[in-house]
Amino acid sequence: MPSANLVILGATGDLTQRLLMPALYRLYHLGYARGLRITGYSIEPWSRERFRNHIYKALRAFAPDYQGTKARRFCAALDYISGGLDAKQMIPLVQHIRGCALFYLALPPPLFGTAAVALGEAGLAKAGGSWRRLVVEKPFGTDLNSAEALRKQIHSQWGEDQLLRIDHFLGKETTQNLMVFRFANRFLEPLWNSAHVSQVQISCPETLGVENRAAYYDHAGALRDMLQNHLMQLFCLTAMEPPSNWDAEVLRDHKVEVLRAVVPFTARSVRRYSARGQYVAGRIGRKRVPAYRREPGIPGNSRTETFAALRFEVNNWRWQGVPFYLRSGKRMASSQWEIAVQFKHVPDALPGGKAAPNNWMVFRIQPDASLNLLANAKRPGAELDAHTVVLTAPYARNPDKEFSAYEQLLLDALTGDCSHFLRFDEVEWAWRLLGPVLTAWRHGKPEPYASGSEGPAAQNRLLAPGHHWRPVRVSPGDLP
Ligand code: BG6
Repeated sequence: MPSANLVILGATGDLTQRLLMPALYRLYHLGYARGLRITGYSIEPWSRERFRNHIYKALRAFAPDYQGTKARRFCAALDYISGGLDAKQMIPLVQHIRGCALFYLALPPPLFGTAAVALGEAGLAKAGGSWRRLVVEKPFGTDLNSAEALRKQIHSQWGEDQLLRIDHFLGKETTQNLMVFRFANRFLEPLWNSAHVSQVQISCPETLGVENRAAYYDHAGALRDMLQNHLMQLFCLTAMEPPSNWDAEVLRDHKVEVLRAVVPFTARSVRRYSARGQYVAGRIGRKRVPAYRREPGIPGNSRTETFAALRFEVNNWRWQGVPFYLRSGKRMASSQWEIAVQFKHVPDALPGGKAAPNNWMVFRIQPDASLNLLANAKRPGAELDAHTVVLTAPYARNPDKEFSAYEQLLLDALTGDCSHFLRFDEVEWAWRLLGPVLTAWRHGKPEPYASGSEGPAAQNRLLAPGHHWRPVRVSPGDLP
């Protein structure tokens, strides 16, 4: 990598210590960060030494391949500047940064606009012949209007081609594998349409609760935290048309095209095709966990949803009539994430008119990353009968070669590859689609569901006749 600067705004915060610094340390460790000068920027009046010590401790706690000597060497090269989010306070930063620079806003979302403008007004968005880029974390706005206002605010100082809106799911190895698997296999394409597919389930349950993020989460809720960004991106990658090349603009055009093909919600369809829930006390494994409303920092009367499910109908040639079900929730029975594609049943062709179970193709995203095809084969015995067998392919696991989502995205941002970052129209269309749901959910309240369960019963009303949610709870020996 040619020499460049990375400036992290919000350098003393949680995201920096838990995800960004461990990712940068690994890139450094693997030799990808040569020539990279990292500067932390934050309001805390810390010395450079204090910042270095803080990051050293963070690496010890969070970097999977932590090694004392290497971590110390990495930290010894870190710089720190203390200052606020206005142009005048950024003068020391201006004096410090020369040449190419990536500015990463690891800040609370309400500060994104202010920080972007301050950097621009300080003159940091432009640098003669050198590039300057800005990484903005999610969520980008809280609805269509606020996203549009944030876009205008940031664009007063930065061009769209300088902006990298992060959705860390796009940096995950398994998400990228979904694209490769879909478009690099001849046998899949003829089946990938409404003639053969009966439903698609994109499910990202989590056993985690709100953790220490009450202030953010209680304003966001599951719909804004997970569905609007991560699950809608998985939906796009599953449903989009094959791009003619891998140019970032072409890829993003295709994602927007599929978002635009989703049938807009109406007040009536929101009632049928959306469901929300909030966890109450229960057990995760053997551990008793409190209700959402009893979590530290959460108001006792909070109406924020910790579970959200939606059904999308896609009005295009490929998908007309195939429901896409998306759901995510905190404190559910497992953290098994998957995209499951069910194929239509075959005619009852076995002797006696016996039916064979539907085929499924299941992309497991995490914790185990694998591809599973549920196929039918003869049940051993005298009868000509079918039963399900599973063809499983774990994705190649090579920890030395795999990048974490943040490693991948930081590297892409530094090298200027924006394929795995969101263009504004992707964000805009996602908010546009969810607008009627957000409006309807201002009223009423989420249905309670027990921690450690499958989620609220309301999710079942989304399903077309004959469809069932695949179980969240999985025991060893269960079919994928
Ligand atoms: C984040 C959400 O974007 O993604 C969290 O804010 C969620 O609520 C997390 O837990 C899940 O992603 P990962 O990669 O941390 O499992």
